Amino acid sequence: MKNILVTGGAGYIGSHTVVELINSGFNPIIVDDFRNSDPLILAGIEKITNKEPLTYKIDICNKEALEIVFKENQIYGIIHFAAYKAVGESVEFPLKYYFNNLVGLTTILECMLEFSIENLVFSSSCTVYGEPAGVKEVTENSRKVKPSSPYGNSKLISENIIEDTFTANKHLKTICLRYFNPIGAHPSGQIGELPHGKPNNLLPFVTQTAIGKHEKLTVFGRDYPTDDGTCIRDYIHVVDLAKAHVKTIKFLENEAEGLNDAFNIGTGKGTSVLEIIKKFEKISNQKLNWEFGKRRSGDVIEIYANAKKSFEILNWKAELTVDDAIKDAWNWENTLKKFNR
Ligand code: UD1
Repeated sequence: MKNILVTGGAGYIGSHTVVELINSGFNPIIVDDFRNSDPLILAGIEKITNKEPLTYKIDICNKEALEIVFKENQIYGIIHFAAYKAVGESVEFPLKYYFNNLVGLTTILECMLEFSIENLVFSSSCTVYGEPAGVKEVTENSRKVKPSSPYGNSKLISENIIEDTFTANKHLKTICLRYFNPIGAHPSGQIGELPHGKPNNLLPFVTQTAIGKHEKLTVFGRDYPTDDGTCIRDYIHVVDLAKAHVKTIKFLENEAEGLNDAFNIGTGKGTSVLEIIKKFEKISNQKLNWEFGKRRSGDVIEIYANAKKSFEILNWKAELTVDDAIKDAWNWENTLKKFNR
């Protein structure tokens, strides 16, 4: 059984990927320092899979600590999630973001070279496209621009660091997955997103408002040039996203030569903020307390994926719908209530 090191494996996307790796016969090894994740999630992984993945409580920026993991285990590939991801916070504390996200990545890359590990899958983001000029459906070849936040810029710089490392080490196999907007939770209700503090992302804010953690949701902007005046995103179920990582590892297993490439991981469909609210109200059978507010600075108006390349090369496509994701997110929010979270 191949060992796959999953940094940030107790986090939102990481934990769902750990489950899918186990389901597909891989042996995930988690590295997570739990600064933005919760041991509750490890218990959830075990309930779903009946397996307790080996877990190291380590900060990936600590190279000496990280080396121990590579000395103790034969690692086939790395899926690197561990990073900060709050856009607003990154604007306030850019150096915190650049340090953690870039030192984390370079430490991982150094260990790959030191311990002769070839395979890397990196968590990137559609933020590298910025606001699409003209057509809102972006392909991997669409123009990349400097993202409007240090968080987003750390993803673009990370992609460049990976490319340069590949250029100097052509035996490496490195893939950047550009996620669109991950939402939802595992359908079992055992794992899901556990935002620390007030969530920044739309769906956690919706479910938390509906359950009474916040008084009301503010919809940021009502006069964008879209059909209903609100921003449009490509929301993708986190389980589909998790499966994309497994497909990527399987693709790398079949590639003889080194390579560096990037793939869009989205559904190919855009949904507006108001549509998300309407869908949520229908699925949860309750009215949501919301109001229009000012535009949020740095927001892209409209973007969605062209995911053809992922289908053609990785043999991956999204199978679940936005409705499935909202249903699972709402189920997860209700589960959290039972845990008093
Ligand atoms: C942002 C990043 C994305 C990143 C993700 C990580 C940009 C442009 N996008 O996604 O790259 O991977 O965060 O967390 O930097 N909204 C409301 N009210 C709320 C919250 C959100 O109306 O309380 C709206 C936003 O204005 C936006 C949509 O909901 O139109 C989605 O927002 P969000 O979930 O925060 O994701 P992005 O900003 O698209």
